[in-house]
Amino acid sequence: MKPQYTLLYRIWHWTMALSVIGLLLTVLLRKTFLSWHTNSALIQSKLAESGTEITAETAKMIAQAIRAPMWEWHYIFGLFLGISILIRIYMMLTKQATLSLFVFLEAPKEEKIQRAVYLFLGFALIVMAISGATLYFYEDLGFTKEGIGWVKELHELTMYGVLGLVVLHLGGVFMHEITTKEGIVSKMIHGDD
Ligand code: HEM
Ligand code: HEM
Repeated sequence: MKPQYTLLYRIWHWTMALSVIGLLLTVLLRKTFLSWHTNSALIQSKLAESGTEITAETAKMIAQAIRAPMWEWHYIFGLFLGISILIRIYMMLTKQATLSLFVFLEAPKEEKIQRAVYLFLGFALIVMAISGATLYFYEDLGFTKEGIGWVKELHELTMYGVLGLVVLHLGGVFMHEITTKEGIVSKMIHGDD
Protein backbone atom coordinates (compact mmCIF):
# COMPACT_ATOMS: atom_id res chain seq x y z
CA MET A 1 0.00 0.00 0.00
CA LYS A 2 1.19 3.53 -0.74
CA PRO A 3 2.61 5.18 2.42
CA GLN A 4 -0.04 7.40 3.95
CA TYR A 5 1.98 9.03 6.73
CA THR A 6 4.67 10.55 4.53
CA LEU A 7 7.32 12.88 5.95
CA LEU A 8 5.57 15.96 4.56
CA TYR A 9 2.19 14.78 5.93
CA ARG A 10 3.74 14.37 9.39
CA ILE A 11 5.55 17.73 9.22
CA TRP A 12 2.21 19.33 8.27
CA HIS A 13 0.28 17.53 11.04
CA TRP A 14 2.74 18.29 13.85
CA THR A 15 3.33 21.91 12.80
CA MET A 16 -0.44 22.40 12.96
CA ALA A 17 -1.02 20.31 16.12
CA LEU A 18 1.81 21.87 18.17
CA SER A 19 0.88 25.41 17.11
CA VAL A 20 -2.79 24.84 18.05
CA ILE A 21 -1.76 23.39 21.43
CA GLY A 22 0.57 26.40 21.94
CA LEU A 23 -2.16 28.88 20.95
CA LEU A 24 -4.62 27.30 23.38
CA LEU A 25 -2.00 27.39 26.16
CA THR A 26 -1.36 31.12 25.66
CA VAL A 27 -5.13 31.73 25.91
CA LEU A 28 -5.28 29.63 29.10
CA LEU A 29 -2.46 31.69 30.67
CA ARG A 30 -4.06 34.98 29.55
CA LYS A 31 -7.34 34.00 31.18
CA THR A 32 -5.80 32.61 34.42
CA PHE A 33 -2.32 33.28 35.92
CA LEU A 34 -1.61 36.28 33.70
CA SER A 35 -5.11 37.80 33.66
CA TRP A 36 -4.77 41.57 34.04
CA HIS A 37 -8.06 41.72 35.99
CA THR A 38 -6.69 39.51 38.79
CA ASN A 39 -3.10 40.77 38.68
CA SER A 40 -3.86 44.50 38.58
CA ALA A 41 -6.01 44.12 41.72
CA LEU A 42 -3.17 42.16 43.35
CA ILE A 43 -0.52 44.74 42.40
CA GLN A 44 -2.70 47.57 43.69
CA SER A 45 -3.47 45.88 47.00
CA LYS A 46 0.11 44.70 47.67
CA LEU A 47 1.49 48.18 46.97
CA ALA A 48 -1.19 49.71 49.20
CA GLU A 49 -0.08 47.37 52.03
CA SER A 50 3.42 48.86 51.80
CA GLY A 51 2.02 52.39 51.69
CA THR A 52 2.18 53.09 47.94
CA GLU A 53 -1.09 54.13 46.34
CA ILE A 54 -1.46 53.69 42.56
CA THR A 55 -4.54 54.13 40.39
CA ALA A 56 -6.44 51.17 38.88
CA GLU A 57 -5.34 52.43 35.46
CA THR A 58 -1.61 52.24 36.39
CA ALA A 59 -2.10 48.80 37.97
CA LYS A 60 -3.77 47.61 34.75
CA MET A 61 -0.87 48.97 32.69
CA ILE A 62 1.68 47.07 34.83
CA ALA A 63 -0.35 43.82 34.72
CA GLN A 64 -0.64 44.06 30.92
CA ALA A 65 3.11 44.73 30.61
CA ILE A 66 3.81 41.56 32.65
CA ARG A 67 1.49 39.58 30.35
CA ALA A 68 2.89 41.00 27.08
CA PRO A 69 6.00 38.77 26.58
CA MET A 70 3.89 35.64 27.12
CA TRP A 71 1.22 36.86 24.66
CA GLU A 72 3.90 37.42 21.99
CA TRP A 73 3.88 33.60 21.77
CA HIS A 74 0.26 33.76 20.58
CA TYR A 75 1.53 35.50 17.47
CA ILE A 76 4.56 33.19 17.06
CA PHE A 77 2.34 30.07 17.27
CA GLY A 78 -0.15 31.89 15.03
CA LEU A 79 2.58 32.25 12.40
CA PHE A 80 3.27 28.50 12.60
CA LEU A 81 -0.43 27.75 12.18
CA GLY A 82 -0.31 29.91 9.04
CA ILE A 83 2.77 27.99 7.82
CA SER A 84 0.93 24.66 8.36
CA ILE A 85 -1.97 25.93 6.23
CA LEU A 86 0.49 26.89 3.47
CA ILE A 87 2.06 23.39 3.65
CA ARG A 88 -1.43 21.87 3.27
CA ILE A 89 -2.16 24.09 0.24
CA TYR A 90 1.18 23.02 -1.28
CA MET A 91 0.25 19.36 -0.63
CA MET A 92 -3.06 19.84 -2.40
CA LEU A 93 -1.48 21.64 -5.37
CA THR A 94 1.05 18.80 -5.78
CA LYS A 95 -1.68 16.14 -5.40
CA GLN A 96 -0.22 14.86 -2.11
CA ALA A 97 -3.49 15.68 -0.31
CA THR A 98 -7.14 16.16 -1.22
CA LEU A 99 -9.54 18.87 -0.09
CA SER A 100 -11.12 17.66 3.20
CA LEU A 101 -14.59 18.22 1.71
CA PHE A 102 -13.95 15.66 -1.07
CA VAL A 103 -12.38 13.23 1.42
CA PHE A 104 -15.54 13.55 3.53
CA LEU A 105 -17.92 13.13 0.58
CA GLU A 106 -16.05 10.07 -0.72
CA ALA A 107 -15.51 8.43 2.69
CA PRO A 108 -17.24 5.11 3.45
CA LYS A 109 -20.08 5.25 6.00
CA GLU A 110 -17.95 4.08 8.95
CA GLU A 111 -15.44 6.93 8.39
CA LYS A 112 -18.00 9.72 7.95
CA ILE A 113 -17.87 11.05 11.54
CA GLN A 114 -14.05 11.04 11.62
CA ARG A 115 -13.88 12.84 8.27
CA ALA A 116 -16.55 15.34 9.37
CA VAL A 117 -14.41 16.20 12.42
CA TYR A 118 -11.39 16.84 10.14
CA LEU A 119 -13.53 18.90 7.77
CA PHE A 120 -14.91 21.16 10.52
CA LEU A 121 -11.52 21.36 12.27
CA GLY A 122 -9.85 22.47 9.05
CA PHE A 123 -12.57 25.05 8.47
CA ALA A 124 -12.38 26.36 12.06
CA LEU A 125 -8.58 26.68 11.87
CA ILE A 126 -8.81 28.67 8.63
CA VAL A 127 -11.33 31.02 10.32
CA MET A 128 -8.92 31.37 13.29
CA ALA A 129 -5.95 32.14 11.04
CA ILE A 130 -7.80 34.71 8.89
CA SER A 131 -9.52 36.43 11.84
CA GLY A 132 -6.26 36.33 13.87
CA ALA A 133 -4.24 37.87 11.04
CA THR A 134 -6.97 40.53 10.57
CA LEU A 135 -6.78 41.38 14.29
CA TYR A 136 -2.99 41.54 14.14
CA PHE A 137 -2.83 43.77 11.06
CA TYR A 138 -6.06 45.73 11.66
CA GLU A 139 -4.40 49.15 11.46
CA ASP A 140 -2.57 48.33 8.22
CA LEU A 141 -5.86 47.03 6.83
CA GLY A 142 -7.53 50.36 7.62
CA PHE A 143 -9.83 49.15 10.42
CA THR A 144 -10.47 50.90 13.73
CA LYS A 145 -10.41 49.12 17.10
CA GLU A 146 -14.23 49.45 17.32
CA GLY A 147 -14.76 48.35 13.72
CA ILE A 148 -12.80 45.16 14.35
CA GLY A 149 -14.89 44.17 17.41
CA TRP A 150 -16.96 41.58 15.52
CA VAL A 151 -13.80 39.90 14.19
CA LYS A 152 -12.55 39.53 17.76
CA GLU A 153 -15.91 38.02 18.77
CA LEU A 154 -15.75 35.58 15.83
CA HIS A 155 -12.14 34.71 16.76
CA GLU A 156 -13.07 34.04 20.40
CA LEU A 157 -16.29 32.11 19.57
CA THR A 158 -14.59 29.88 16.99
CA MET A 159 -12.06 28.93 19.66
CA TYR A 160 -14.78 26.86 21.37
CA GLY A 161 -15.35 24.99 18.11
CA VAL A 162 -11.61 24.30 17.83
CA LEU A 163 -11.50 23.12 21.46
CA GLY A 164 -14.47 20.75 21.01
CA LEU A 165 -13.15 19.34 17.72
CA VAL A 166 -9.62 18.81 19.12
CA VAL A 167 -11.13 16.90 22.07
CA LEU A 168 -13.19 14.75 19.63
CA HIS A 169 -10.06 14.18 17.49
CA LEU A 170 -7.93 13.11 20.45
CA GLY A 171 -10.75 10.86 21.73
CA GLY A 172 -11.09 9.32 18.23
CA VAL A 173 -7.34 8.74 17.89
CA PHE A 174 -7.22 7.19 21.38
CA MET A 175 -10.15 4.83 20.59
CA HIS A 176 -8.57 3.85 17.25
CA GLU A 177 -5.25 3.25 18.98
CA ILE A 178 -6.63 0.93 21.67
CA THR A 179 -9.21 -0.92 19.54
CA THR A 180 -7.01 -1.75 16.50
CA LYS A 181 -3.46 -2.97 16.11
CA GLU A 182 -2.64 -0.34 13.51
CA GLY A 183 -0.57 1.86 15.85
CA ILE A 184 -1.64 5.12 14.19
CA VAL A 185 -0.01 7.37 16.82
CA SER A 186 3.33 5.65 16.25
CA LYS A 187 2.85 5.96 12.47
CA MET A 188 2.03 9.66 12.84
CA ILE A 189 5.43 10.05 14.55
CA HIS A 190 7.69 7.56 12.69
CA GLY A 191 5.81 7.23 9.41
CA ASP A 192 4.73 4.06 7.59
CA ASP A 193 7.09 3.97 4.63
C1 HEM B 1 -4.28 19.42 19.12
C2 HEM B 1 -4.02 19.67 17.90
C3 HEM B 1 -4.28 18.72 16.76
C4 HEM B 1 -4.86 19.05 15.59
C5 HEM B 1 -5.41 20.42 15.22
C6 HEM B 1 -4.88 17.85 14.77
C7 HEM B 1 -5.44 17.79 13.51
C8 HEM B 1 -5.52 16.66 12.71
C9 HEM B 1 -6.14 16.59 11.42
C10 HEM B 1 -6.82 17.76 10.70
C11 HEM B 1 -6.01 15.32 10.96
C12 HEM B 1 -6.56 14.76 9.66
C13 HEM B 1 -5.48 14.65 8.63
C14 HEM B 1 -6.01 14.27 7.28
O1 HEM B 1 -6.80 15.04 6.71
O2 HEM B 1 -5.59 13.23 6.80
C15 HEM B 1 -5.29 14.57 11.97
C16 HEM B 1 -4.95 13.24 11.89
C17 HEM B 1 -4.33 12.54 12.88
N1 HEM B 1 -3.89 13.04 14.10
FE1 HEM B 1 -4.08 14.90 14.76
N2 HEM B 1 -4.29 16.81 15.44
C18 HEM B 1 -3.91 17.29 16.68
C19 HEM B 1 -3.26 16.59 17.66
C20 HEM B 1 -2.93 15.26 17.60
C21 HEM B 1 -2.25 14.52 18.63
C22 HEM B 1 -1.79 15.10 19.98
C23 HEM B 1 -2.11 13.25 18.18
C24 HEM B 1 -1.48 12.04 18.81
C25 HEM B 1 -1.68 11.67 20.03
C26 HEM B 1 -2.70 13.17 16.85
C27 HEM B 1 -2.74 12.06 16.06
C28 HEM B 1 -3.30 12.00 14.81
C29 HEM B 1 -3.35 10.78 14.00
C30 HEM B 1 -2.80 9.42 14.41
C31 HEM B 1 -3.99 11.13 12.81
C32 HEM B 1 -4.28 10.20 11.62
C33 HEM B 1 -5.64 9.64 11.80
C34 HEM B 1 -6.01 8.73 10.65
O3 HEM B 1 -5.24 8.55 9.72
O4 HEM B 1 -7.12 8.23 10.72
N3 HEM B 1 -3.19 14.44 16.53
N4 HEM B 1 -4.99 15.42 13.02
C1 HEM C 1 -6.36 27.80 17.32
C2 HEM C 1 -6.07 29.02 17.00
C3 HEM C 1 -6.33 30.23 17.88
C4 HEM C 1 -7.01 30.35 19.06
C5 HEM C 1 -7.73 29.27 19.85
C6 HEM C 1 -6.99 31.77 19.44
C7 HEM C 1 -7.63 32.31 20.55
C8 HEM C 1 -7.70 33.65 20.85
C9 HEM C 1 -8.50 34.24 21.90
C10 HEM C 1 -9.40 33.46 22.86
C11 HEM C 1 -8.31 35.58 21.88
C12 HEM C 1 -8.95 36.63 22.80
C13 HEM C 1 -8.11 36.84 24.01
C14 HEM C 1 -8.75 37.84 24.96
O1 HEM C 1 -8.98 38.99 24.56
O2 HEM C 1 -9.00 37.44 26.09
C15 HEM C 1 -7.39 35.86 20.80
C16 HEM C 1 -6.96 37.13 20.46
C17 HEM C 1 -6.10 37.37 19.41
N1 HEM C 1 -5.53 36.44 18.57
FE1 HEM C 1 -5.88 34.47 18.54
N2 HEM C 1 -6.28 32.46 18.50
C18 HEM C 1 -5.87 31.57 17.52
C19 HEM C 1 -5.14 31.85 16.39
C20 HEM C 1 -4.61 33.09 16.11
C21 HEM C 1 -3.79 33.38 14.95
C22 HEM C 1 -3.40 32.37 13.86
C23 HEM C 1 -3.46 34.69 15.03
C24 HEM C 1 -2.59 35.42 14.04
C25 HEM C 1 -1.54 36.07 14.38
C26 HEM C 1 -4.08 35.24 16.23
C27 HEM C 1 -4.02 36.56 16.64
C28 HEM C 1 -4.75 37.12 17.66
C29 HEM C 1 -4.81 38.54 17.94
C30 HEM C 1 -4.08 39.65 17.17
C31 HEM C 1 -5.66 38.71 19.03
C32 HEM C 1 -6.08 40.02 19.71
C33 HEM C 1 -5.22 40.27 20.90
C34 HEM C 1 -5.63 41.47 21.72
O3 HEM C 1 -6.68 42.08 21.46
O4 HEM C 1 -4.88 41.77 22.65
N3 HEM C 1 -4.78 34.24 16.86
N4 HEM C 1 -7.03 34.67 20.19
